Amino acid sequence: MLDVDKIRKDFPMIENNPDLVYLDSAATSLKPQCVIDAVVDFYARHTSNVHRGDYRVAEINDKLYDGTRNLVAELIHCDKDEVVYTHNVSHSLNQIAFGLKPMLKKGDTVLITYAEHASNVLPWFALQKEIGINIEYIETDNEANITIDTFKKAMHEGVKVVSVAEVTNVLGSIQPVKEMCEIAHSYGAYMIVDGAQSVPHMKVDVKDLDVDFLGFSAHKMCGPSGVGILYGKKKLLDAMEPVFYGGDMNARFNKDGEMLLKDTPVKFEAGTPNIEGVIGTGAAIQYLLSIGLDNIHEYEKELRAYAIDKLSQLDNIEIINPDNLYGPIDFNAKGVFAQDAAGFLASKNIAVRSGNHCAKILHNIIHTDQSIRASLYFYNTKEEIDRFVEACKEITLENCVGIFF
Ligand code: ALA
Repeated sequence: MLDVDKIRKDFPMIENNPDLVYLDSAATSLKPQCVIDAVVDFYARHTSNVHRGDYRVAEINDKLYDGTRNLVAELIHCDKDEVVYTHNVSHSLNQIAFGLKPMLKKGDTVLITYAEHASNVLPWFALQKEIGINIEYIETDNEANITIDTFKKAMHEGVKVVSVAEVTNVLGSIQPVKEMCEIAHSYGAYMIVDGAQSVPHMKVDVKDLDVDFLGFSAHKMCGPSGVGILYGKKKLLDAMEPVFYGGDMNARFNKDGEMLLKDTPVKFEAGTPNIEGVIGTGAAIQYLLSIGLDNIHEYEKELRAYAIDKLSQLDNIEIINPDNLYGPIDFNAKGVFAQDAAGFLASKNIAVRSGNHCAKILHNIIHTDQSIRASLYFYNTKEEIDRFVEACKEITLENCVGIFF
């Protein structure tokens, strides 16, 4: 059980904005004081670069910075050498796609879904253009769920990569990743998982799932912006070339162009990293582990069910994903442009996202490219949902005319 009142006190954004109902955590989460402290301490007490300074504060940072790898390893159940720091999920997925380029050839198939975020579509489109891979789409239901049957139907000998979000960013569809891995591997295909909307909200065990690669971002899980994680099985990371070259990732090079790269994972981390961000990510993971990912998951499920029950009683609201049990609530107000509706909610100090949410081919499933997304996290309350639903009741064309915020 979560003590949400106590948890809310950990978040200065909540304390400083007592009237704000923040329902945009799928875009980015709020940050607890311990994460803010970790970042501020770096600036105020122990600023230095990492892996380069032979002095005391640099040692502190080396320890904290590399220590985050152990915490990520604990969070997703992997080895610390399988944890690569990137800048966000887009960066992680680009490294994977372009890192796999030498293993792919013209005519090979990459399987995705229409529900993927741009970061899991565009790198594949780029490879389609560059080397002529085929992109095929796994059939889903109208809330973007893959079933084992539809996945089996999509698989064939030409599939070399399957890349899907474990929880989709608009509809919150939870995909059967473990079973999909088993099937993908039986065809010799790599299984890549976008964990941006799963890792912050539920236990994800890469060993149990047997995924080959997983990407996620710190800023959606109470951590700072500008830090992503790329998990890969060690032997796959060892075989993969980096996309970026530069400082720290090399062991030596000479004027003739010979270079020796450092081992995984550092060979993927060119240049000075987001040190304070990685240290803050460590604090965020400790915070989430102290609350418990299972507790977070159960609480959010309950809160979502409460919101769906209330919203579905409103005649002016069409919920796009009423049957999914988890993740964001996607909806429209009848006859009202989504951005106007979001503006109306903003006038009541309720923060949601509107538009296509970076999932620009999702309209092939939901038949609209305009919706309002309310996304919850463990610091939201039933009282906030009540305020949100009361405001939704009033979203009409008349009420939205002339809304500026
Ligand atoms: N990827 C983030 C979202 O879904 C920004 O809103």
